[in-house]
Amino acid sequence: MPRRITSALILASTLGLNACNESPGTSESPAGTIIVSSTRTATASPDVEWALHGLNGAETRFSPLTDINNDNVERLGLDWYFDYPTHRGLEATPLVVDGVIYTTGAWSMVFAHDARSGELLWFYDPEVPREWAVHLCCDAVNRGVAYRDDKLFFGTLDGRLIALEASNGSVLWSKQTTDKSRPYSITGAPRIVGDKVVIGNGGSEFGVRGFVSAYSLADGEQMWRFYTVPGNPEEGFESPAMARAAKTWDGGEWWEIGGGGTVWDSMAYDPELNLLYIGVGNGAPWNQQIRSPDGGDNLFLSSIVALNPDDGSYVWHYQTTPGESWDYTATQHLILTELDIAGQQRKVIMQAPKNGFFYVLDRVTGELLSAEPYAAVTWASHVDMETGRPVEKPAARYKGAMSGLQLPGPIGGHNWHPMSYNPNTGLVYIPKQDVPWVFATEADFRYRKGYWNTGTDNRVASLPDDPAIRDAVLGAVKGSIVAWDPVAGAPRWEVEHAGPWNGGMLSTAGNLLFQGNAEGELVAYGAEDGERLWAFDAQTGIVAPPVTYRIDGEQYIAVVAGWGGALALVGGEALTAGPKPNRSRLLVFRMGGDKSLPKIAPERLVFDPPVLEGSPDQIEDGKRLYLTYCVFCHGDAAVGGGVIPDLRTLNTEGHQQWDGIVLGGLHWQNGMVGFADELSGEQSRNIQHYVIERAHRALAQTGQGAEQHDSDE
Ligand code: HEC
Repeated sequence: MPRRITSALILASTLGLNACNESPGTSESPAGTIIVSSTRTATASPDVEWALHGLNGAETRFSPLTDINNDNVERLGLDWYFDYPTHRGLEATPLVVDGVIYTTGAWSMVFAHDARSGELLWFYDPEVPREWAVHLCCDAVNRGVAYRDDKLFFGTLDGRLIALEASNGSVLWSKQTTDKSRPYSITGAPRIVGDKVVIGNGGSEFGVRGFVSAYSLADGEQMWRFYTVPGNPEEGFESPAMARAAKTWDGGEWWEIGGGGTVWDSMAYDPELNLLYIGVGNGAPWNQQIRSPDGGDNLFLSSIVALNPDDGSYVWHYQTTPGESWDYTATQHLILTELDIAGQQRKVIMQAPKNGFFYVLDRVTGELLSAEPYAAVTWASHVDMETGRPVEKPAARYKGAMSGLQLPGPIGGHNWHPMSYNPNTGLVYIPKQDVPWVFATEADFRYRKGYWNTGTDNRVASLPDDPAIRDAVLGAVKGSIVAWDPVAGAPRWEVEHAGPWNGGMLSTAGNLLFQGNAEGELVAYGAEDGERLWAFDAQTGIVAPPVTYRIDGEQYIAVVAGWGGALALVGGEALTAGPKPNRSRLLVFRMGGDKSLPKIAPERLVFDPPVLEGSPDQIEDGKRLYLTYCVFCHGDAAVGGGVIPDLRTLNTEGHQQWDGIVLGGLHWQNGMVGFADELSGEQSRNIQHYVIERAHRALAQTGQGAEQHDSDE
C-alpha cells in the first residue's frame, strides 16, 4: 500500500529527518519520496493544463480560460491550501499536468499535489547542504520544474540538474552542472527544447563565469555549453563567440573573479526559427572599473542572446547595458509575439530588464525596434535608435565619485517576477518598481573567494539615519503594475502599490489580471483598465506568479505564497510595504470556494539588547563589516524583512552565543554559516557592537517594542 501524507506536520518531521543527515554524494537516493496513486473522473469541458514554465514556449502567461472572468470574479474563493514546512521565499511557477500540480519550494524541494483536492502525492528533497546558503545572493529559492513525458526536471541551489519520475518522484538521473569549487547556484526553472533540457545558473555577486548548458532528456548527458563571457585569453576560447567577446574586455584579470554573465532566469524558444533566447546577467564584480578597468562593452553581459539549440552556437545578440557597472541584468522575463510595427508585422521578443528600458527587438535578427523607459531612469537619458546604445549620464559610472541617488538600483526597475502579455488588450503587465541606490567604488577592493564581491561600497547605499535624507530616499521607493503598450512604447495605465517587490503576473481571456503583492494579498484586476475587482488576504507577502488551469470543468487559480527573495532579505522592513513574516503555502481558488486560512496572532518584535559598550570607531567598523557580510540576509541597517531573524531582537542571552553562531557556525543547519575563515574575533565583536547600537536605536524609537508585520493597522 502506498503511504499517504495529508498533514504538513508529518511532512515537516519527515523533511526534518532528511534535511541534514546526508552528504551530497548520496542525495540522489529517493529517500523522502512517498508514492500515492490518484484517481481520475470523466471531464465535462476539456481540461486545460499549465505544462510549461511560461504557459507556452512564447512565455506569454496569458491563459485562454474565461470561466472565471471580470463579471463573476467576486465569487472566487479559497478551495484548498497546503502549508509547507520551510520559511524561506517561494518563487515557483507551479506546473499542472494530468491532474497533478508540481511545484518547488525552499531549498530546491519538489512537491506533487492532486490538483483538485490538494492532497500531497509525494515530495522530493534533494538535501541541499544548508551551508551552501552563504553562496546565495537572494534567498533559498527555486522558480520551478520543467515537465516532459512523465518526467520532471529541476535545478538545485548547489548546482545539480535532477530528473524525476513524475508519477512518484524517484530519481532518474542527476548531474552536477557547475564547478563546486565556485559559488554557483541554480534558482531558475529549466526549459526543454527538443530532446534537451537547458539550464543556467547564478552566482555573479560572489564571483563566477556564466554559462548555459543543454543535457540529454534521456540520460542527462551534456550536449553543449555556451559561455556568456570569455575566460583567460591565454587559455584560448571555447567558441568564435568568445574570441569576439574577449575583444570587448579591456585590462584587468576578470577571469579571476569570473566576469559574471550568469543565465539565472529567463529563456524562450521559437520552434519555427529554431532559436533559443537566453537572458544574460550582470558583471562580476559589478564595478567595471575593477572588472575591466580600461572599459569596453564586456560582451555578453546584460544581453539577450539567440542561440541555435541544436549545438548551442551563437546566432545574434543585443546588449542592453554595454560595460554594465550597476547589476543591470538582462535575465528578466522574455516574451515572444508578433506586433504590427510601422505597418509591418514583426516577430518580436520583448523584455523589461533591470536597467529601466522596455525593449522590443526583431527576434529573427536582433534588430532594435524600440526602447522606452518603463520605470524611473536616471543613469541614461535615452536609448539612441541609430546606435542601439543607451546615452549615459556622466555621474552614473561613479569614477572617483559617488553616483548620486540612482534609478534603477541593483534590484532593478523590474526583477525576475514574470510579466504577462495579453493579446486581447495588447498590453504587457510589468511588476515595476523604483528602488534607488548610490554607487561608489569600494576602496582597497580585495577578492574574497566565495563571498560577496561587487566592488561597490555598500555604506553609501545604506539607508541613512538622518530623517530628512531618509524621507527623501524612501519617497523615491515605489512599486506598481505598469500596463505597457509595446507598440506605442508607452504605459496605458498604472496601478500603484504600497511599495516594491510585488508578485509575478497572470492575465486571462476572462479579462482578468492576477497578481500577489508584498502586503500579502492576491488581487484580481480588470485586464483592460486595472480596476481592482477581488482580493484575498494570504497572511504573507506573495512574490511568485499565479497560474490557472481547468480540470473536470472547473477553473482554478493557484499561487505559492511565501515572502522572500532579494529585496525581502536585504531591504528589510523599511523598503518594502509592511511585509508579513514568511508563511509558506500553496493556495488554490475556484468559484464558490469557501475555505479560510487559520487566524493568526499578531507578532511583535521585542527589543531587549544588552548595554551598549562599543566605541564609535568600533561601531563604524562593525557597520562596514555588517554591510559587507551580513546585510544580504539580515537586512539593511540590521532591520530584518520577515524572513531571516532581525538581529536587533537578540537579548543578552542571545548575544552570549554570538561568537558561537557568527564565527563557529552553530546554526549552519538552518543556513547561517560561521564566518571564522573570514572574520577575526575583534571584527565579530565590532559587528556585535553595531547590532546592539541598532537595537538601542529601535528601542528608543519604539519604547517597549515595535508592533510589526501582522499588527492590525
Ligand atoms: C546567507 C544568509 C546569511 C548571512 C549572509 C548571514 N546570516 Fe545570520 N542567519 C541567517 C539565518 C537563516 C539565520 C537563522 C538561523 C536559524 O534559524 O537557526 C541566522 C541567524 C543569525 C543569528 C542568530 C539570530 C537569532 O535570533 O538567534 C545571528 C547572531 C546571526 N545570524 C548573525 C549574523 C552575522 C553577524 C552575519 C554577518 C557576519 C550573518 N549573520 C550573516 C542567515 C544569514
